[in-house]
Amino acid sequence: MPSKKQSSLSKLVNNNPLQHAGYLAVAKTRAKVLKAFSYVIPIRRPMLFVGETACDEICDMLINEGSTNVFIVTDAVLNKLGIPAKVTDYLDSKSISYQLYDGITPDPTFKVVEEGLRKSVDAKCDSILAIGGGSVIDAAKMIAMSQGNNCKPRQLIGILKARKPSMPLYCIPTTAGTGSEATLGAVVSDDKTHQKALSIDPRMVPLAAAIDPVIMKGMPAHITADTGIDVLTHALEAWMSVNASVETDYYAASAVKSVMQYLPMAYKDGGDLKAREEMGIAAHYGGIAFNKAGLGYVHAIAHQLGAYYSIPHGRANAIVLPYVLDLNRKASEKRLAELAKKTGMVKHGQASSGNGAIADNLIAQVRELIKSLNIDPTVKGMKTSDFDSIAKAAAKEVSDTYAVPTYMPASGIKEILTKIMQASEGRSGENKSSDKAA
Ligand SMILES: [Fe+2]
Repeated sequence: MPSKKQSSLSKLVNNNPLQHAGYLAVAKTRAKVLKAFSYVIPIRRPMLFVGETACDEICDMLINEGSTNVFIVTDAVLNKLGIPAKVTDYLDSKSISYQLYDGITPDPTFKVVEEGLRKSVDAKCDSILAIGGGSVIDAAKMIAMSQGNNCKPRQLIGILKARKPSMPLYCIPTTAGTGSEATLGAVVSDDKTHQKALSIDPRMVPLAAAIDPVIMKGMPAHITADTGIDVLTHALEAWMSVNASVETDYYAASAVKSVMQYLPMAYKDGGDLKAREEMGIAAHYGGIAFNKAGLGYVHAIAHQLGAYYSIPHGRANAIVLPYVLDLNRKASEKRLAELAKKTGMVKHGQASSGNGAIADNLIAQVRELIKSLNIDPTVKGMKTSDFDSIAKAAAKEVSDTYAVPTYMPASGIKEILTKIMQASEGRSGENKSSDKAA
C-alpha cells in the first residue's frame, strides 16, 4: 500500500474552480517544458533486429562492438523455461563468455536492482544483455547506468541524473508490451511502500534490441492480452497527447493498426510467429511514440490501481482505457477520427459521416477488442476511502509528466474509480449467481 504523503497536493487537486484553474496552469506549463525537453535533447534509437534470427544478429553486434564477457539479466521463470538458451547457445558457439543472472522479480525494487548491480560488477563483464519483459529490461537499464556511472541506483532517480554513459546495453524483449527496449526511462519500486520511482535519461536507451517472435511464442494468452492492451494504450495516449508530432503520430498510428489486426491473432494462437513479430514491432513503436509525446490519465490511474490493488499493469490499463477514451472523446474527436481513417477503423459507409460518429466507433472497437480478449475487469478490494489518495496521486502524475487533451479535477478521477468499482461489483455478482447456478 502506498504511503499517503500527498497532503501538499490537496491544493493542486480539488473541485474548487479557482484552485482547479491553478492546477491547470501548472500542468499546462509543465507540458510545454516537457515538449521542449523532448525536442531539444536528442534521443537515441536502438539498432533494431527483427525476425527469427534477431537474437543471433544482436549477439553478432555485441561481439563486433568488442564485448567478450556478457552479463545476461533475466528472471527465474524465463530461465526455468530455458528461454535464454537461444542466446547462450549462440554465444557458446562463438566462444564468448557470459554470466547469467536470473534474480529479477516483477516490479523490481531497489534491493533487487542493487543485488543485480553487485553481481554484474563482481562478474567484471563488459556488456549487459537483458532477456525478459519490462521489469527485467528496466532493472537491466538501472544496472547498466549505475555501473557506467559508478553510483547507487537511487542516485539516478529523477531527470538527467547520470554524468557518464551507461554500460553497453542490449535488449531482447520476451513480451510485446512496455516497449521499454525503446525508451529513455526505467521504473524501480520502493522496497517498503512499493511506490514507483522513475529515472529518465536519453543515455539509458539501449544500443540495440532484438524482436524475435520465437522468443515470444511461449507467452501465455492472458499475458499476451494484458501486454497487448498496454501497447494499444501507449499508442492511443501518445496519439491524443497535445505534445504529439508528425513523428510520434507515425509510430502511434502504426502501433494501433498492428494491435487491432494482430493482437487477436497472437491471443488465439500463441505460435503464430507473424502475429508475434508484428506485436513486438508494435510494442517497440508504441515505446518510441510515448518517449516523446508522453502518456495520460489511463497510465496515471492504472499505476495507482497496480500499487493499491496489485493489478498487473496491462490489465489495469485495459480496465481504465474505455473510461478515459470517453472522457477525451469531446476534446479528441477530430484526432480520433483521423486515427480511425488511417488505421482502417472506419465502419463501411461511415467515412463521410461526422468526426463524432467515427470517434465513437473507434472507442466501441477498442471496448470490443478488450472484451474479446477475456480480460478480467474486476478489481478486488477497492475501497472508496482510498479514492482521495488515488485521485491526488494520479492527478499529480498527469501534471508532472503528461500533456493530456483534457484535464479533469479529482472528482472526475473519483467518478472513474466509482464506475470501475461498480463494474467490479456487478461482475462479482454475476460470478456469484453463476456459481450458484452451477
Ligand atoms: Fe504502459
